[in-house]
Parts: sequence; structure tokens; C-alpha cells
Amino acid sequence: MSALRFIFLIATILTVMTVVTAHNITAILSEFPEYSEFNHYLSETKLDDEINSRETITVLVLNNGVVSSLAGKHPLSVIKGVLSLHILLDYYDNKKLHAISDGTTLSTTLFQTTGNAPGDVGFVNITDLKGGKVGFGSAVAGSKLDSTYTKSVKQIPYNISVLEINEPIIAPGILTAPAPSADVNITGLLEKAGCKTFVKLITETGVLKVYQLAAAKGLTVFAPNDEAFKAAGVPDLSQLSNAELVALLQYHALASYTPKGSLKTTKDPLSTLATNGAGKYDLTVETAGDSVTLDSGVGTSRVASTVLDSTPLCIFTVDNVLLPTELFGKSPSPAPSLSPDVSPASAPAPDVLSPEPAAAPSPFLSPPAPPTEAPAGGPAPSDGPTADSENSNANTNGVDGVRALTLTTLGLVATSVSVMISFVLC
Ligand SMILES: *[C@@H]1O[C@H](CO)[C@@H](O)[C@H](O)[C@H]1NC(C)=O
Ligand SMILES: *[C@@H]1O[C@H](CO)[C@@H](O)[C@H](O)[C@H]1NC(C)=O
Ligand SMILES: *[C@@H]1O[C@H](CO)[C@@H](O)[C@H](O)[C@H]1NC(C)=O
Ligand SMILES: *[C@@H]1O[C@H](CO)[C@@H](O)[C@H](O)[C@H]1NC(C)=O
Repeated sequence: MSALRFIFLIATILTVMTVVTAHNITAILSEFPEYSEFNHYLSETKLDDEINSRETITVLVLNNGVVSSLAGKHPLSVIKGVLSLHILLDYYDNKKLHAISDGTTLSTTLFQTTGNAPGDVGFVNITDLKGGKVGFGSAVAGSKLDSTYTKSVKQIPYNISVLEINEPIIAPGILTAPAPSADVNITGLLEKAGCKTFVKLITETGVLKVYQLAAAKGLTVFAPNDEAFKAAGVPDLSQLSNAELVALLQYHALASYTPKGSLKTTKDPLSTLATNGAGKYDLTVETAGDSVTLDSGVGTSRVASTVLDSTPLCIFTVDNVLLPTELFGKSPSPAPSLSPDVSPASAPAPDVLSPEPAAAPSPFLSPPAPPTEAPAGGPAPSDGPTADSENSNANTNGVDGVRALTLTTLGLVATSVSVMISFVLC
């Protein structure tokens, strides 16, 4: 009996440990008021998600005074660029800084991954200077090592290290990078990225205007490439009513700036521009390593490439047209209730395991004729409510499942510990 309890105790402790592995830079920096500005801008630019989604990372923090004087002079897009140069895709702690072979090295930064880092702009030079000082500077030839390591702030060994430096690292050209203005040519960028069909559709339906209006505050577009529209299984769009086509195109965008790092850390379903009272029109995100997949409920699509990532606008291409269940249904029969339902108490990873009732073999050959022409206002298509309520049940169960699991686990640990103590005492 006691052996069993002991195994149970170990098992529950292990469960708790797996629940709390990932780091959270916002939480780490919140213990240090002197970096509150830096922390604020990490959140504002969504770089926090990027940091949290990576395993081996070093953040070079700057104190409030330094960040404020930088932020006062530049738009958010430039601040994001500068801060990206302070996020090293490698682990450096105090010991490693002073043990650099030959005393000098280059480190890749997050800036390098943005796709607009020519030459050495995305690299940082770290040099062990005389007298135990460590200098940081841009790796671009001729740059000075103006930033000096001042102290170590926090380490979770080999996962994340936070070090303070006294001055920002500035690469040539980074401060004068043009800010994205409200008049970014969305269609021009999309055409260049191979999404001509999508451009034609958003232009003809007027959805482009909706995008442009949203772009000022925050917009993320998932544009299917031209091949995606030709793929087998894509419904005949000419069979859709205008309102349905508009809903389909609005389904391909979010009313927020959501770069890839944020997609990777997304747990809850994402609302889209098509989301309204009558339909959820949401997207679930699945992440595997660096790859992000969107699940509409009818099918999935890989996020293929980043066309533009510039606060507050993000444009991606996707491999498949995203087909919302509100328009293209799931299984026509109400059978999905038989699908393995994740019971709250045993749902370790509801996001991954979310029940996915087998899609109807070809729901597209006979496009649904929803009773309403206006997905924006009227009641949802006849099979909508079923799908909706299933979805919401699954999702609620999922979220509650995690909470329930965590609480249950904590409860169990407490119980097991007290049992252990009483056992030892006896
Ligand atoms: C570091 O990250 C790895 C992989 O995510 C994780 O397994 C490990 O527990 C983390 N280490 C710490 C100390 O959090
Ligand atoms: C990280 O920590 C902050 C502040 O403690 C919290 O608000 C936020 O939800 C956390 N993020 C994640 C992904 O857990
Ligand atoms: C770093 O910069 C210093 C000074 O400019 C230079 O001497 C050194 O070679 C650079 N390190 C690397 C690895 O390029
Ligand atoms: C946007 O780009 C397209 C294609 O390059 C071009 O035809 C169009 O005139 C541009 N629109 C604006 C407003 O500059």
C-alpha cells in the first residue's frame, strides 16, 4: 500500500514538473523594476512570445533610462529591431562570457531570423576585453564594441540567461529602417509572394478595405498561395454567395498583430475577422518545433512563409485555403459525439489531442446552402450549431481539463505528502 502511494507521489510530482518547464521572460523580468521598460517593450512587440518559444536563449537587458531614451525617438518597429539584436540564440552566462575561445566570437540574434538582415547585421560580436570586461557590438565590420556587460541577472541553466549591458547594441541602418506606414501595399506584397488569386478575391469583394482599416491597429493575414486555390478538394468558390465569400476571406485574417512566435505560444483558438455572433470562425494553432499549422476544423494548413512582420502588420502565406466549419461543415451526421471525448480529468494536452471528428469525404461537392445570406447577422447554417456546440464543449473541456488536472495534481501532491509524513512518523 505505502509503496503504491510512494509511486503515486513520484508520479504526481513528475506531472507537476512537466507542467512548469517553459520559461516566461515577462515573469522573470517582473522581479526587476529596473527593467520594466525593457519588459514592457518585449510584450508590446511580442518578442516575449518569441523568447518563450525558444529553448536556448540569452537576453541582454538594458535599464529603464536607456530604453526610455531609445523609445522616445523611434517608432515601435525600430524598437523591435533593436531589441531583437539583444536576443542571442545561444546560451551565455557569466562563466561562458569569460571563457570565449580566442576571446572573441559572433552570436546569431533574433534579428537574423526576421528575413531583413543583410550581411552581418543580425549578428553580435562578443569580445572578452582587457581587465575582465566583456564588450558587445554589431558584427558589421567597423562597428565599435560600445556596449559593456555589467552584470548577470538571472539564469535557468542552458535554457535562458538574462544579462545586463550598459548601452544598446545598434547595427548600421537599424535606427533608420523605414517604419511601416498605414499605406503598406498589401496587394503588391501578396502578388510578389505568389498569392494573385487571393489578391483578386479580396479586391473584388472589398475585403481588402476591411484589411486596410484593421491594419492600422493590428492585422495578421494568412494568404493562401495560387496553388492552394487549385488544389483538389477546394470548393468551387463561384458557388458561394457574396456574403459567404466575404466571410471566407475575412476568416483568413486576425484583428491583431500576431507574429510567428506568438502563434507558436498560442493555446486558445484564435478569433478571426469573420468571427461574429452567429459563427465562431476560429482557428486552432498546432506547433511542432519551428513549424506552425492552422486547423480550421475542416482541414489544416501549414504557415508557409512570412511575407511581412512589421508591427502592427503581419502577412503570412499558407499552403491551403482555410475552410471554416461554419461554411463547409464537418461530418453531416451527428455521429461525432461518439468520437473519443477528452474527459476533463485525463486531458494531458487538449490542444494536441482535441477530438477531430472525421471530416466528411467531400463536403465541397455540394456546397452548403445556409438558410441565411448573411453570416454576419442571421442564424448560422443548419449544421452550424451542432458543430459549434461540439467545438465549444471540446474547448471548454480542454481548458477546464488543464485547470482541473493542475488542481487535482496539486491536491494529490498535498495528500500524498501528508500521507508520507504520517507514514514516516508512525
Ligand atoms: C530546459 O528546457 C528543456 C526543454 O524544454 C526542459 O526539458 C528542461 O526542464 C528545462 N530546464 C529547466 C531547468 O527548466
Ligand atoms: C508570463 O508571466 C506573466 C506575468 O507573470 C503572465 O501575465 C503571463 O500570462 C505569463 N505567460 C505565459 C505564457 O504563461
Ligand atoms: C569583434 O570585433 C573586434 C573589434 O572590432 C574584432 O577585432 C574581432 O575580430 C571581432 N570578432 C569577430 C569574431 O569577428
Ligand atoms: C500596389 O502594388 C501593385 C502591384 O505591384 C500595383 O499595381 C499597385 O498600383 C500598388 N498600389 C499602390 C496604392 O501603390
